[in-house]
Amino acid sequence: MKALLRFFLTRTARRGRTPYGVRPLVCGLRLYRESNLNSNIFDWRRLGAAVMLLAACVSAHAATTPNTSTKADVKAGRERLSLDRGWLFHLGDVVHPPIVGHEESYSNAKAGNAPGAAGTEFDDSDWRRLDLPHDWAVEGPFDPKANISQGYRPRGIGWYRRYLKVDPADRGRHFELQFDAIATHATVWVNGNVVNRNWSGYNTSNIDITPYLNYGDSLNTISIRADAEAMEGWWYEGAGMYRHAWLVKRAPLHVATDGVYAVPRAGKGKLWTLPVEVTVNNSGKQVSDVTVEVTLFDPAGKQVGRQTAKATVGVLKDAVVKLPFSVNDPALWSLAKTNLYRVTTRVIQDGKAQDEVSLHTGFRTIRFDAQQGFFLNGEHVKLQGVCIHQDHAGVGVAIPDSVWEYRLRRLKELGVNAIRFSHNAPAAEVLDMVDRMGFVVMDENRNFNPSPDYMKQLEWMVKRDRHHPGIILWSVFNEEPVQGSEVGYEMVRRMAAVVKSLDDTRPVTAAMNGGFFSDLNVSHAVDVVGANYQVPDYDRYHKAFPNKPFTSSEDTSAFMTRGEFKTIKEKGIMASYDDLSDAAQWGNTHRDAWEAIATRPYVAGGFVWTGFDYRGEPTPNEWPAVSSVFGIMDLNGFPKNAYYIHQVQWIKDRPLIHIAPHWNWSGSEGKEIRVMVMANVEKVQLLLNGKALGEQQVDPFRMNFFNVAYAPGKLEAVGYRGGKEVARTSVETTGAAVALELVPDRAQLAGDGRDAMPITVRALDAQGRAVPLADANVTFAVTGGGRSIGHGNGDPTSHEDEKGATRRLFNGLAQLIVQTNWDSKEAVNVVATAPGLSAAKISIPVKAVAAQPFVASADAPTTFVRSWRVAPVSDQRPDPNQKLAGFDMNTWGWGAPPLWADAGAKYHLYRSSFTPRKNLANGNGLIRFGGIRGKAEVWVNGALVGKKDSYAPAALDLPLPAGTGKREINVIVEAEPGQGSGIEGNVTIEPAPVVK
Ligand code: GAL
Repeated sequence: MKALLRFFLTRTARRGRTPYGVRPLVCGLRLYRESNLNSNIFDWRRLGAAVMLLAACVSAHAATTPNTSTKADVKAGRERLSLDRGWLFHLGDVVHPPIVGHEESYSNAKAGNAPGAAGTEFDDSDWRRLDLPHDWAVEGPFDPKANISQGYRPRGIGWYRRYLKVDPADRGRHFELQFDAIATHATVWVNGNVVNRNWSGYNTSNIDITPYLNYGDSLNTISIRADAEAMEGWWYEGAGMYRHAWLVKRAPLHVATDGVYAVPRAGKGKLWTLPVEVTVNNSGKQVSDVTVEVTLFDPAGKQVGRQTAKATVGVLKDAVVKLPFSVNDPALWSLAKTNLYRVTTRVIQDGKAQDEVSLHTGFRTIRFDAQQGFFLNGEHVKLQGVCIHQDHAGVGVAIPDSVWEYRLRRLKELGVNAIRFSHNAPAAEVLDMVDRMGFVVMDENRNFNPSPDYMKQLEWMVKRDRHHPGIILWSVFNEEPVQGSEVGYEMVRRMAAVVKSLDDTRPVTAAMNGGFFSDLNVSHAVDVVGANYQVPDYDRYHKAFPNKPFTSSEDTSAFMTRGEFKTIKEKGIMASYDDLSDAAQWGNTHRDAWEAIATRPYVAGGFVWTGFDYRGEPTPNEWPAVSSVFGIMDLNGFPKNAYYIHQVQWIKDRPLIHIAPHWNWSGSEGKEIRVMVMANVEKVQLLLNGKALGEQQVDPFRMNFFNVAYAPGKLEAVGYRGGKEVARTSVETTGAAVALELVPDRAQLAGDGRDAMPITVRALDAQGRAVPLADANVTFAVTGGGRSIGHGNGDPTSHEDEKGATRRLFNGLAQLIVQTNWDSKEAVNVVATAPGLSAAKISIPVKAVAAQPFVASADAPTTFVRSWRVAPVSDQRPDPNQKLAGFDMNTWGWGAPPLWADAGAKYHLYRSSFTPRKNLANGNGLIRFGGIRGKAEVWVNGALVGKKDSYAPAALDLPLPAGTGKREINVIVEAEPGQGSGIEGNVTIEPAPVVK
């Protein structure tokens, strides 16, 4: 007998079924034991009967028991699938009524039983359907009573839900949800289990959901409560799931998320090392020996190195594997040549690749010198930087990747070489672009706090971002009041130590706005001192600490409204001449700040506050002003005058010249207009209608000013170097606007449902010249393969609906952002109309491209009845409606379909409850049993609704009685004598199929 059992065990194990093979085995054994109970004599007949019973048990269980895989069955490889599509959204909190009863309290405390919208069976049929990225705050109206810093945009609380169908063939794989960021406090449930709480709107949540999953038709529910009442900043932070979401499926043996550390280090001569460190995770069921293989590819894609190492990974454990590379004379990453190497890591088991992941890295050296500033690859680079928030016209913080590309391109054109992502880590895609486009970056942690929860946020940032060659500084904080104290010093010391433990190749900084001179302060705990403003203290600090590298981490804070040349404070309008009166008291004008930085070699560089306007902080104004005016560009990325000031200061390799203001001053004929010429040449000359008005030596910091008596016509500026004309520009008096024009940012869109493009909207006069003061109210119609996702005009006082069909031009410009639909091939057609102007029409070709791999949307018109109580078995037909004492949590069992009962007792009673979705209230619903083995009676709220009269396993559909609210369902199953019985398939409440 023992041999027979061993044979059976090994067979089932070989078939990869050990765990569920045990169930029929136990069942068979029990029957065998029962049949032998009174006999000590070995009886071949009884053994034969037991084997047959065993076989019956195996076949019965095979039908109902999940396939629990071992390594042989589990799919190898990795899939990273976009989870952006198919979310349901509810604006406002969904408050579950207080739980008062004992049974409910008991149940509420159990895994998988989160109540209300957090749970599995919530009726979300009237929620809005949308795709990510999504910022609900930008969809809403402005409210003068709402928070000024958040742009007078009410934020509130919102819920998201999504259904997920998981293929049974994926059983055994490792499933991870990745939410790139959710504003602001987010709680995530999967199948009614709380699986994550993330108390920062700027961090990714990586969540292993493998243990909670249902496979096959039984859908999985993801619920998210986003609390955007919580604030982490004093700027517009948006609300909701504003970055991407992913589902990553991996083999049980896989590279951990952010588990590859690959940062090159320069050695002697041209020899570099690349000490790669790989964290392998094993979520499988066996201790496993693996080979980790790392391959290095040069920027041309040629393999330049390969290393392997062996490791043993314990069950549900990590193993860290180190693979040192030597690379001779690599192609360096620099601002001009962004050479990126690819590091591909594979986890191999028994010769088969289980997982593969790639990232890029770059070979470059960085050095902050206390006397001479910053060096990249040994070459001095003055940091011509900007601070930026994540916020764009029309879309808020839910900025499509392609609009980020547009924003970074604008910065590049401006001559920016350094970006401080203030005051939080940006989206991962943005850092990839930064590496490709050639910027250096200060990556900044949001919450200053070395306690364990917050330290995790810092660790996440460093681990996710450390392979990016663009990152040159880790910033642990921005302007903390404790910066000048021992407390601040001790906090930074701890945070800096954590950063160093994860990446010791970049200096740590902190953006201080004071406290530099106290006995013990944060500047003593960082590698590079960052100063926000404090220009008068630069030299004093440098004198006191001549060996401490120093940079401006933030400067300027000057106010400017695009296209305005006179400050009218009551209207929230700020002039564009960069005068001292239009700069913050704590800051400087654009020109003063850069002059202070550029003329001090020990200051590594500057970071202008800010590259772009952003919502909130309308400083120095208040309502009706809702957006900041600090930007070098407005919220759309349209240049203000500050753009040209910095451009001529920062770009040296080609002659540039620009004139402000526009030349439409009708009514001011003969009056003096202050003209500002911005140029990077030696000398500038001004001409009005061909008549020379004078020449000036260019002042590279202050720019050049002329007073010109206004006469309509053409005002020209000519730039000279070595006496030769090298640049020329002009502004002209235009006629009235007669037509609209649409200027797309790029020639084509990708039909992947993600690609988006800003389109400039402007008005032209009869000669086709852009009219600088045009303010037409433009209506948009977008048809074909795309849609509008928002618009803006850069007016910091505009309260227009950013998602509606119309937008007024502000100082001649507006911007419409269009995005392609999923799987579109059709061109995107845009028509812009405005009263009295001829319409503009464009058709942007759409290139059919393969969609990024994604998780298909799963609809849940169904309610799954999953949680059942199981009455003790009986040979008498039980009363289906018998009462169970409210405190009795133990005499009845618990279970979820498949609810299987071995042969034995005749009657089994199962009880559950469900609340049908609203659309079924009129009685057009069905109670569907995927399969019942045995005869059955089904009772709902004390009334018999149907019967199954045969013992054979079969599905059963019964009409759902009309009405609303919670129902109790009782099912009596009568087993065929000597046979098992049970509720074998899913039990669902669904709309009845429509009969045609
Ligand atoms: C700084 C701060 C920025 C912004 C700026 C406005 O103090 O770091 O976030 O508020 O002031 O001038």
